[in-house]
Amino acid sequence: MANIIVIGMQWGDEGKGKIVDLLTEFAHVVVRFQGGNNAGHTVVVGQQKVILHLIPSGALYPQKKCVIGNGVVVDPQVLLAEIDELQKRGYFKDDDQLLISEDAHLIMPYHRRMDVARERMKGEGKIGTTGRGIGPAYEDKVARDGIRVGDLCNPKIFRKKLEATLAFKNPCLETCLQDKGFNLETIFQEYNGYGERLKKYVTDISVFINNRIKEGQHILLEGAQGTHLDVDHGTYPFVTSSNTVAGGACTGAGIGPTKITEVIGVSKAYTTRVGEGPFPTELKDEVGERMRERGREFGATTGRPRRCGWLDIPLLRDAIRLNGLTGIALTKMDVLSEFETLKICTSYRHRDERCQEVPSSIEVLQECVPAYEEIPGWKGEMRNARDFKDLPPQAQDYVRRIEELTATEVILVSVGERREETILRRNPFERGPCLS
Ligand code: IMP
Repeated sequence: MANIIVIGMQWGDEGKGKIVDLLTEFAHVVVRFQGGNNAGHTVVVGQQKVILHLIPSGALYPQKKCVIGNGVVVDPQVLLAEIDELQKRGYFKDDDQLLISEDAHLIMPYHRRMDVARERMKGEGKIGTTGRGIGPAYEDKVARDGIRVGDLCNPKIFRKKLEATLAFKNPCLETCLQDKGFNLETIFQEYNGYGERLKKYVTDISVFINNRIKEGQHILLEGAQGTHLDVDHGTYPFVTSSNTVAGGACTGAGIGPTKITEVIGVSKAYTTRVGEGPFPTELKDEVGERMRERGREFGATTGRPRRCGWLDIPLLRDAIRLNGLTGIALTKMDVLSEFETLKICTSYRHRDERCQEVPSSIEVLQECVPAYEEIPGWKGEMRNARDFKDLPPQAQDYVRRIEELTATEVILVSVGERREETILRRNPFERGPCLS
């Protein structure tokens, strides 16, 4: 049995799509367990670049099952567009390749409008959301006012729930948010069409996944966003609205924690963040600009430029603790080539105190100053490195230093965007259950 969770260790965009795509080769089932189409996973296969927002990266392997778990919020219009696009490119030919949880909550048009209107009203204090309706959809779920994918498959129930919800949402939009309300009939007709097309994929995914586990199949659980965007453990309120940490994989896919064998954290060799919120190692100078250019750091979902900065070890240490990580996949090493000197933030200083962990209060975190150690950079192309020893010695030292500072093994180093541009030092699917 090898059931592995892959999560982001920073603020999202760590390159999880590529890592999941690589590891999918060894798994039978790939599951998304939280978030929605706020995520954007870029996978490069041959000459093709595919950006997936909702469907797990396993979609590019015809024989793998792709599951959208109950913890995900589903915008059916986006999901159907993604299915159509994949089919147009020759993937996803069999309907039984995709399974969608009947318990996953729907993103409705009023969620998107509320998300955007609220950000507008917050002005300077905005979160910098993706505007996809993620927060409002999760709010309705927790408030027990949500409409689920299973409801969409039953027009009578769907209409009744929609009617009750609009009676509350429309006045809220019109009065509190000074925006427009929605027409019941228009949404009903549109969503009914989505339900007709999606119902063949809808099932109890917890039963499906657990049966596969009993048969000895391998499950890969694919996280979206990153640890520090977690609604409980992240830089609140500048977070997303789901549990992005490994614990979210169990609730969001309906499997027990005893079934998980490894948790792999993905981290860039430096740090990026999209949207607002504290970022101690952010570089607002030409070094940060160079990182953005070299790393092509623009959001896969919104196209926004990502804020860039040096690698932040306290962030990674927190991620290791919060997720119980058993290994790190280090991505975008090639982006750091050509920098004379590199800096690693080993701790923060807050007034007279040294902090090894990320403080919970963002007011404190905003005042933290990173303490850096400098290490020599390296030059030259490293995309052809396939073995750790092929890396320039300084790059090897950089990886070893990260291992020392985090006390965690770097199991994979990514040196380019293609599948083959990877140094796999240990394959988590080829090890038995982790006992540590
Ligand atoms: P929301 O998830 O759209 O509500 O956005 C909340 C915060 O999470 C914003 O700062 C977004 O930029 C950030 N965010 C959401 N999804 C992603 C992602 O996939 N990568 C990076 N940041 C994200």
